[in-house]
Amino acid sequence: MRLVLLGPPGAGKGTQATQIGRAYDVPVISTGDIFRANVKNGTALGEEAKSFMDRGALVPDDIVIRMVEDRLAQDDCGHGFLLDGFPRTVPQAEALDEILSKQGCPLDVVLRFDVAVDEVVNRVVNRRVCANCGAVYHLQYAPPAVDGVCDACGGPLIQRDDDTEQVVRARMDEYRAKTEKLERYYVERGLLRDVEAVGAVEDVARRTLEALREFERPRDGEGS
Ligand code: AP5
Repeated sequence: MRLVLLGPPGAGKGTQATQIGRAYDVPVISTGDIFRANVKNGTALGEEAKSFMDRGALVPDDIVIRMVEDRLAQDDCGHGFLLDGFPRTVPQAEALDEILSKQGCPLDVVLRFDVAVDEVVNRVVNRRVCANCGAVYHLQYAPPAVDGVCDACGGPLIQRDDDTEQVVRARMDEYRAKTEKLERYYVERGLLRDVEAVGAVEDVARRTLEALREFERPRDGEGS
């Protein structure tokens, strides 16, 4: 399965990506997570990306494309992958098509998660993430058992620097200005499928896996 997840900030891409990655046994590649890991480790890439992320702007295409090309060349992507947060612009999508056509492995499907703006703002400003293992919580919908403490590893829960209402509205503006054009790009290629991303996480997961069933291919050694 070679899959792209599209959707506004806070649509639940990261939440569903974990479950899809597990179901299809493919690596989840989140460009946002890669940037945040670089920021945390104080790399030059992280420093460059942070100035864009903190104001809700997209990191320039050439930086993101190089980073994803390197990641897709790694062995674990040989049998598929899930891209969460890439591509986000038409030039990124064109670059992805070029990378995959060199490998002779085109995309199978692009899933778009659909959520209203007010719900997005609520989800993002109430999101908390574990500084240690990256587990994601929501103060109302998916709170930790103990305030401020990760259920999975006991690490401290923090708020992302770009999860303020002001920055999330800027991220929405970027989404409308640049990423919505990308939706048309994939509609024209017959690859886009919509998933209604409101309701309980388990219901969205069920709808997502149902939408993917039509694109399943036999695994190696199956159904010759
Ligand atoms: P990135 O990290 O990709 O952020 P994003 O796309 O804005 O998405 P989020 O991580 O905010 O949300 P999500 O959809 O994953 O939602 P989640 O599952 O966490 O990018 C950050 C920045 O990096 C960008 O602004 C940009 O600067 C840069 N960047 C990254 N990729 C780039 C690229 N390709 N090009 C250029 N720049 C790039 O869920 C959100 C919350 O809602 C959680 O609290 C969760 O618990 C809760 N939740 C989830 N599902 C549900 C549900 N069904 N019901 C109730 N609550 C739910």
